[in-house]
Amino acid sequence: MNLFDVYPINDIIIDKAQGSLVWDEKGQEYLDMYGGHAVISIGHTHPHYVKRLTDQLNKVGFYSNSVRIPIQQELAAKLGKVSGKEDYQLFLCNSGAEANENALKLASFYNGKKKIIAFKKSFHGRTSLAVAATDNPKIVAPVNETDNVVFLPWEDQAALEEAFKQYEVSSVIIEGIQGVGGIQVASEAFLQKIRSLCDAHNAVFIADSVQCGYGRSGKFFSHDWAGVNADIYSMAKGIGNGFPMGAIIIAPHIAPHYGMLGTTFGGNHLACAAALAVLEVIEEENLINNALTLGDYIMTELRKLPNITEVRGRGLMIGIELPEAFAHVRKNLLAKHKIFTGEAKPNVIRLLPSLALTKADADKFLAALKSELEN
Ligand SMILES: Cc1ncc(COP(=O)(O)O)c(C=O)c1O
Repeated sequence: MNLFDVYPINDIIIDKAQGSLVWDEKGQEYLDMYGGHAVISIGHTHPHYVKRLTDQLNKVGFYSNSVRIPIQQELAAKLGKVSGKEDYQLFLCNSGAEANENALKLASFYNGKKKIIAFKKSFHGRTSLAVAATDNPKIVAPVNETDNVVFLPWEDQAALEEAFKQYEVSSVIIEGIQGVGGIQVASEAFLQKIRSLCDAHNAVFIADSVQCGYGRSGKFFSHDWAGVNADIYSMAKGIGNGFPMGAIIIAPHIAPHYGMLGTTFGGNHLACAAALAVLEVIEEENLINNALTLGDYIMTELRKLPNITEVRGRGLMIGIELPEAFAHVRKNLLAKHKIFTGEAKPNVIRLLPSLALTKADADKFLAALKSELEN
C-alpha cells in the first residue's frame, strides 16, 4: 500500500528531537523555528512531559466518556487558571478543525441562527463547516459549499456593520493573528467591534486560537490583547505539544445539554495528561513571558535587516515578508543553515517556534537570515 500523496514534503527524516533542536537519522542537527507547525509549545521531548505521559500510560491510557474521568476536571481547572477564563466550560476533542466545527455548531444550537461571518484569507480547518468558513476555494469540495458563510474583508468595520444589518448572524469566527493568511494581526479596535456587534445581535464571537493561542502571542489568547472576551475559544496545536488534541472553552451563558456535542477519543486520559504537562511547564518556566520578550527581541532585530518588505506578528508568531527576489531564502535556511521555518503565500517566512526558544537559538536564526539577505 502507498501513502495518499497530499503533502509536498522535504526529504528529511527526523529521528530525534529535544527542546528547539531536531536531528535526522544521519545525526545532522537542525534548529526548529517552525515547531512542527506551531505544535511544539514547550519544546520537543520535555522531560516533565515525557514522564507525565509515561506514568499515565502505565496506569490507564484510554476509557470512553461514559465514565467519570477526573483528569479532565483537573485539566479544566488548570486551563481556567492559566488562561484566566475560570468561569468558562471545557469541551475536549481531537484537532483544530474539530474544535472549530464544534464551536460553529454550538453557536447555532445556542441562538438558532445560521449565518457565519468569516474573513478573507482565513483558515479554520478542513472539516465541513470549518472548511466552508476557510477562504480557500481549492480545499472546499462541492459538498462543503454553503450559503451559510459570508466572507468579509479583513479589518473592515463598515462591512461588518453592514453584514449585521443584512443577515441574522449566528457567529463571527476570527483568528486573532491569521496564520495561513500570512501573519496578519487583528487590531484591538476590530476585535472590540466584533464584541459589541455580537452583544447587540445575540451572535456568538468565536476566537480561533488554534495557531495564535496557548501563549504564543505573549498573552494566553491573542484576542486578549483587545481586552474583550470571546464567547468560545477554539484551540489545538500547542495544547498537547504534539499529542493530537483540540478543545473549545465556552462562556457560562451557553448552556450544555446531554448529547449536544460528543466524541469517542476527545478528553482521553493520555491527552489530558499531555495537556496538563504542557500547562505545568508553561507556568513553571514562565513561557508566555518568554514568548513575549523573545518575540519582541526577534522582531526588533529583524527590522534592522536589509531587504525585508515587512515584519508582522506578536510574541513567537512572526511573519517576515520578503521581496520576490528573495523567494529562495526559506529554502536556503533549511538546506544551507539547517533551520526549519514555516511559510505563507506568496512570500512570507513564518516563525512558529517552541515558546521555550532561547536567545541563543534566536541569534543563530537571525545570523543565518542576515547572511542570506545581505547576499
Ligand atoms: C487558525 C487555524 N485554525 C484551524 C486549524 C486546523 O487545525 P487542525 O489541522 O488541527 O485540524 C489550523 C491549522 O493549521 C489553523 O491554523
